[in-house]
Amino acid sequence: MKRAIIFGIMVAVMSAGCSSGGVNIMEESSSPCVRLNSGYDMPVLGLGTWTQDNGTAENSVYTAICEGYRLIDTARYYGNEAGVGRGVMRAIREGIITRGDIFITSKIMPGNYSDADNAIDSSLQALGLGYVDLMLIHQPGYNDEEAYRALERGVMAGKIRSIGISNYYTPSDFERITRNASIIPAVVQNENHIYYQNTALQEYLKRYGTIIESWYPFGGRGHTQELFSDKAITEIAAKHGRTPAQIILRWHIQSGYIAIPGSKNPEHIRENINIFDFALTNDEMNIISGLDRQQRFELW
Ligand SMILES: NC(=O)c1ccc[n+]([C@@H]2O[C@H](COP(=O)([O-])OP(=O)(O)OC[C@H]3O[C@@H](n4cnc5c(N)ncnc54)[C@H](OP(=O)(O)O)[C@@H]3O)[C@@H](O)[C@H]2O)c1
Repeated sequence: MKRAIIFGIMVAVMSAGCSSGGVNIMEESSSPCVRLNSGYDMPVLGLGTWTQDNGTAENSVYTAICEGYRLIDTARYYGNEAGVGRGVMRAIREGIITRGDIFITSKIMPGNYSDADNAIDSSLQALGLGYVDLMLIHQPGYNDEEAYRALERGVMAGKIRSIGISNYYTPSDFERITRNASIIPAVVQNENHIYYQNTALQEYLKRYGTIIESWYPFGGRGHTQELFSDKAITEIAAKHGRTPAQIILRWHIQSGYIAIPGSKNPEHIRENINIFDFALTNDEMNIISGLDRQQRFELW
């Protein structure tokens, strides 16, 4: 992703006007981006790879890139950074993308917080892509503030472009991890879906230009059908001639979130990025926002 000039508080105001959540996204390409407070552009829709082994991740990453995805989410914990790197390298070798076209996120896992500098190097080595676009602290844990310092050192050393945190849900969580920080997190990656909306945190983070990225955009494994068959979602889907998955993703993006639906199914991968040629109305956005019941499906 190209380096952008930082103008004060940092969310880019670009074209299209599809955002209702305080973040303006750039929709002129098949992979619309948001400008992070680090000055880098991050695609607003990406591929999640949790539960995918190296071979599966390699294939789904390659398929996703061919379909126009330019954001891939992995983590040391998933054990598939090497597969993700191979999928990206295959697309680069075939001339589909260059390294600068693709945005890779990885995460340091709690067991490595006391040795985070080495953990960053291990992730870089497994990915084999030279640098990581975004590296996150995977979740709160012993020595997470120290691990965040290591991420800052990674930025200074040119190993990482942007940094952030994951599974920090309240302003006090955010303030604790940043109290001695010199770099404000660009992204907070949290469980976030129609039944558990991070609305208050999103409002709080606006002052920092920090963007919320939704994991479990469909509610995660075991809950997707519950979300897909929600009456409000199916009615809106029928009106637009779209699938429930597409309506839900459109709600994430128009709400100002980044979404990383996980999939290893080429049909789903294609379906999930085919959402940039329609928009939900304000009424439809309000109906979906009204589905929030603060119901989390995971508690880590
Ligand atoms: N930071 C964290 O702590 C954390 C935690 C959890 C997840 N994550 C990240 O967030 C990503 C997303 O979460 P997730 O993958 O667990 O859950 P999810 O995206 O909410 O749901 C994934 C499930 O939805 C199915 N699916 C995807 N597209 C579909 C479509 N169009 N129609 C029907 N089914 C569809 C997938 O099956 P198919 O494979 O068959 O398509 C898979 O079973 C993860 O992959 C991971 O990268 C981060």
